[in-house]
Amino acid sequence: MNVNFLLMGILLLSCTSPKPIKGAVVSAREEASAIGVEIMKQGGTAFDALIATDLALTVCYPNAGNISGGGFLVYRTAEGKVGSLDYREKAPMGASADMYLDEQGNVMPGKSTLGGLAVGVPGTVAGLAAIHKKFGTLPWEDLVQPAIDLARKGYFVTKKQQRSFESKKEDFIAVNGPDTFYAQDFKAGDRVQNTALAETLERIAKYGKAGFYQGPVAEDLVNRVMETGGVITLEDLLAYEPVWRDPINFQYKDLNIYAMGPPSSGGICLAQIMKMIEPYNVGQYDHNSKEAMQVIVEAERRSYADRSLYLGDPDFVNVPKDSLLDVTYLNKRMNSFTFEKATKSTDIAPGSIQWEESEETTHYSIVDPLGNAVAVTTTLNGSYGSKVFVENGGYFLNNEMDDFSSKPGVPNMFGLIGGKANAIAPQKRMLSAMTPTIVERKGKLAMVVGTPGGSTIITSVLQTILNVYEFDMDVQSAVSAARFHHQWLPDVVVFEPGQFNPSLIKSLQDKGYNIKEEYSRIIGRVDAIQISESGEITTGADPRGDDTAVPLY
Ligand code: GLY
Repeated sequence: MNVNFLLMGILLLSCTSPKPIKGAVVSAREEASAIGVEIMKQGGTAFDALIATDLALTVCYPNAGNISGGGFLVYRTAEGKVGSLDYREKAPMGASADMYLDEQGNVMPGKSTLGGLAVGVPGTVAGLAAIHKKFGTLPWEDLVQPAIDLARKGYFVTKKQQRSFESKKEDFIAVNGPDTFYAQDFKAGDRVQNTALAETLERIAKYGKAGFYQGPVAEDLVNRVMETGGVITLEDLLAYEPVWRDPINFQYKDLNIYAMGPPSSGGICLAQIMKMIEPYNVGQYDHNSKEAMQVIVEAERRSYADRSLYLGDPDFVNVPKDSLLDVTYLNKRMNSFTFEKATKSTDIAPGSIQWEESEETTHYSIVDPLGNAVAVTTTLNGSYGSKVFVENGGYFLNNEMDDFSSKPGVPNMFGLIGGKANAIAPQKRMLSAMTPTIVERKGKLAMVVGTPGGSTIITSVLQTILNVYEFDMDVQSAVSAARFHHQWLPDVVVFEPGQFNPSLIKSLQDKGYNIKEEYSRIIGRVDAIQISESGEITTGADPRGDDTAVPLY
């Protein structure tokens, strides 16, 4: 070959082939992802980037990003060590099993969702401090500083965010009065400068965990909770400790999967569903085909039924993890499944226990150039939590108490029912569905994934993994692909509206599946990173939100 041609070819290739990505942050907001990447550029690891990204989300994604909620981390270090941190909120010491019941024993509407009594003892700052203590390489103050700067300089409101603010304005005012910070009419493109939050973050930067759980920030928090009818005390804040726990680990074909264990139901349910699906080899069917969907829905039905009965805070109840994950048991659970017709949820377990959770949570995935990976899902529970805004502190408080069963066996105002395992008790953690997940293949890091979406979290994570490994999609397509959801009760399969072929819907209806297409709530917002066998990093940011992947070159 002519040498000039060869040189031109090499030049052309080097101009056109994309630069390899060395790391990435995928989160609900571009600012937060960019801040995480900047930390890695300064030499920080994925753990350092996690802290900066998390606090940035507190500023620019106030519906779910938080210093006043809780979350879960699942990590895999560059050396292949895997673990998880539980910094889920806890019930205050003054909580009791019947705290949301009136004198007649009826659930009082709104008490577990709106106002001070809905607030669980926050775990986020203690969680971030524990992560920094164990894994941090850059100084804590340097990781908090970008969020302080963002709060002072301001973040820009997106169109979706404007709609979100507008939809909750009445609640903000009802709980906090007309002068509350977020009752201002912020429009898309407006810059929001939150000086009060910058000052709170400055105390956290200076004093670490104590900057939130002690001193003026803690006092303001407790006062605001008390003013709005809650029971959290300074003693509750001082007593809060996160817990390092073993994640749930299971094999699916050649994948080795780690996901969050109790008090999240995510890992156990994901494992149950995938193990029930495994023998059916769903990859032999087309993606979102009738057969593939039947197998997935039937496995989901059986797992969510177990979830309602058995899962709760492992520090308070005995979660029969091994029995629930026993392969013989799971295969037996699928014995009643046939492709001929839908199983009825009432035939799966007695009673009619219903599970649903609120959808406002956020997830981010980070991989650094060394190969450390973190999957973090964090939440205030409802959108903007309890809507209680600590004006002096610039942040909303969670309403995580609603993830408990207000009255075991009886529906609360949203029709939610839970088992005794998830009854309220002082200092107990409420059951979650959050499913931060790490996938290994052939001993190597292969995927980091998670999502918000309440009870749809588990099934969205499931479909994203299956889309990549069974249906051969790249990770962005896997995240974007239309999703469906089933959770045992109500006995309906929820479809993303307008995304599924009417003939497919008809054929499933003919089999006895009750399809609900007009469902308005989101089915997750998955943020994922895939690492190929050769080490190539690709990202998937969910187009359903403002989610953005920022690569590190
Ligand atoms: N608050 C939603 C969850 O923890 O699953």
